[in-house]
Amino acid sequence: MSRRGRYIAFEGWEASGKSTQARLLADRINAVLTREPGGTDLGLAIRDLLLGNGPEPTQRAEALLFAADRAQHLAEVVEPALSQGNDVITDRSYGSTLAYQGHGRGQSTEELMRLVEWASGGLLPDLVVLLTVPVDTANGRLGDERDRMEREDADFAARVIDGFAVLASADPDRWIVVDGDGSIAEVAERIANAVGVK
Ligand code: TMP
Repeated sequence: MSRRGRYIAFEGWEASGKSTQARLLADRINAVLTREPGGTDLGLAIRDLLLGNGPEPTQRAEALLFAADRAQHLAEVVEPALSQGNDVITDRSYGSTLAYQGHGRGQSTEELMRLVEWASGGLLPDLVVLLTVPVDTANGRLGDERDRMEREDADFAARVIDGFAVLASADPDRWIVVDGDGSIAEVAERIANAVGVK
């Protein structure tokens, strides 16, 4: 029987470089690369509802749509890959729900964690890599074409960024914080060291 794969999530504020770094690490360790929201066909439709220019969901509807995306993603992509012995790297996971819907929007993180656990059937990443970059650097990388989250104001950004720091310090066995400021190659080396890959 093959070993179960390792499940690693990348988290961070917008334009923190996590998509690039998730891809580089996935190439390096030959892992399945995926993302939330939008890692399945259903998830792509949900992503469009959440981040496109359609009707504005209520806060609870927003949290439930992210949870629906995650439930489908874990059942269809993540769990099958892990049980076949593949490592999985996801660009965002439950931490974004706690940081954005919890700390950002002001919903209860305890209630959201119950939603996360129900949607995921208790499957959480083994490791979460939180990439930090100064907010001005990150926001400077955002173009004019911004999605619903990227259009939020500076206070929202500050709450989400602080929220990620709180989540990381509350669960240090699962979360590692990596300085995302620097060249792509420098940051990739920091991540490889932190994650323990050659
Ligand atoms: P991204 O894939 O380009 O990072 O965009 C995903 C957006 O969705 C980003 O603004 C973070 C947000 N998000 C949440 O608010 N809650 C979640 O649970 C997830 C997975 C993402």
